[in-house]
Amino acid sequence: MCGIVGYLGQKNTKEILLEGLKELEYRGYDSAGIAVLQNGNFSNYKAVGKLVNLKEKTKDFKTEGFALGIGHTRWATHGKPTELNAHPHLGESSYVVHNGIIENYVELKKELQANGARFLSQTDTEVIVHQFEKNQKSAKNSFEAFAKTVSELQGAYAILLVTKNEPDRIFFAKYGSPMLIGINKENEKYFASSDTPLIGHCQSVNYFEDGDYGYATSKEIAVFNKDGAKKELKFSALSQNKLLAQKDGYRFFMEKEIYEQSVVISDTLMGRLGENEIIFDELDKTLFDGINEIKLCACGTSYHAAMSASYLFERYSKIKTSLEIASEFRYREPIMTKDTLFVVISQSGETADTLETLKMAKAANLKTLAICNVDNSSMVRLADATILTRAGIEKGVASTKAFATQVSVFWMLSLYIAKRKNSLNAQEIASHISLLREVPSHIKVTDAMHERIKRLSKRYLHGHGFFFIGRDIFYPLALEGALKLKEISYLHAEGYPAGEMKHGPIALADPELFTIALLPKHLHYEKSKSNVEELSARDSTICAISQSEFDKADDFIQISSCEHYMLEFFEMMVVLQLLSLEISIRLGNDVDMPRNLAKSVTVE
Ligand code: F6R
Repeated sequence: MCGIVGYLGQKNTKEILLEGLKELEYRGYDSAGIAVLQNGNFSNYKAVGKLVNLKEKTKDFKTEGFALGIGHTRWATHGKPTELNAHPHLGESSYVVHNGIIENYVELKKELQANGARFLSQTDTEVIVHQFEKNQKSAKNSFEAFAKTVSELQGAYAILLVTKNEPDRIFFAKYGSPMLIGINKENEKYFASSDTPLIGHCQSVNYFEDGDYGYATSKEIAVFNKDGAKKELKFSALSQNKLLAQKDGYRFFMEKEIYEQSVVISDTLMGRLGENEIIFDELDKTLFDGINEIKLCACGTSYHAAMSASYLFERYSKIKTSLEIASEFRYREPIMTKDTLFVVISQSGETADTLETLKMAKAANLKTLAICNVDNSSMVRLADATILTRAGIEKGVASTKAFATQVSVFWMLSLYIAKRKNSLNAQEIASHISLLREVPSHIKVTDAMHERIKRLSKRYLHGHGFFFIGRDIFYPLALEGALKLKEISYLHAEGYPAGEMKHGPIALADPELFTIALLPKHLHYEKSKSNVEELSARDSTICAISQSEFDKADDFIQISSCEHYMLEFFEMMVVLQLLSLEISIRLGNDVDMPRNLAKSVTVE
């Protein structure tokens, strides 16, 4: 979690840091801070809450000429979101920013305190700067002290550190948390947790690898690997397409991203739909040789996409598929057999738990595949194979278009495997492909649909909770609908398999309990209807989403007529996203920055 930026050069350091932090604010917005070293003096500003507060505090602060700066936007892990706990953290004459978790900070802190160090915050990060200054006393230079400090840290980190003793350089280290450096012709150096802050400033970037540490000055970048050997950086061109990351007149990024889905799904499908086969040029033809099982592992929304995939893989590819929540899988001593393809699903490619499971699968010599939205992310770099979801930058904390593209990729992948396993014939695959071609038009948001949901949303603001129910692949969609609502409206919502209600949850049914019922015409329609009738008989308030009116429902949202349940799936997905959006807006919440959440969860 958290986002860090760093800058070294002649331009307006303050503005560059603040602009960079704005791009990373989605990673955490409990507090933010910057430290700038100029003409031998430090200036440090911190503010609790969103970045505007820091902007206000720094409005009279000016930087001119050569300066070094580091900045941070925080999602609290150790220590409450207060100003003292905000980064950068100060020692005697150095500042540090950090993303990740220092696992051995308690031991280090005890020892440092015993030697007289004064701690101001409750964070794990502060030990880094004190440990560094302790090491400075015995090291021959600051770099040696920094290298020793890094070797003493356990956990995950992306670190930037500046010290008065060497006012021409930024020290950096990366292990387990993302960080890159960008360069340009003017010899400036930019650091950030992801590439967006660098767009418009740098032409090329290097993504640091775990274990990398070193320092950067105007003239050089010195990088060493975890064994202390000097290494070459691998720079690649940075795409300059920042327009995609703007709001384009929508009220929230989430809204924009819901509307964008039709376009991004077209991108996801592009070049991958043959006449009667799916083309994944990025996959080695032998990837599925010797594979008898697929294990899907992810968190949150990506987990729901994975669950949808488990239905498609067993139904169409006839391959045994199991499903894992990454944070559980890590610690339950799982059995991993070599005939299993281990698949991680992640929008960001940086989620700590999912990344860790990928490392476990690699260590067990399993073949691995990443379904990911961010090229060059940690998961993409680590997995044997990758399918990019091509959703573009997703800024809304509540994931929408990433989910849509993940499910589309899985639908294609189920057909790709089906061809290799001969579980569907060419004609069957061809008919799925023509359905896939229809997805972009089915998920276009129409004015009428949006207006209907906007009006209806006012009836679903109170009550004591929501059930989202569906059967089969509509069960993960129900889970996703409930998660979307929880995240941005803060209302209590649960997703359930429709057939499971009578095994307990139905006890909650009364007029104040809202049931959002997914009733696809082309999959278990009659069975799902009976489940809804059971709830209606117990007086739950029901909103049915279906192709045709259902007389037991209090409200009804009609999707267009389509001939396959997967098209109904995508249409209902849009309805659920819009419903959460409109409820959240009516409740006056910040849709794009819901409380307690962050976009990329790079700590476990
Ligand atoms: C919910 C949401 C999260 C993420 C989860 C995994 O809207 O976005 O539940 O899906 O944190 O993130 P990724 O997909 O980046 O691994």
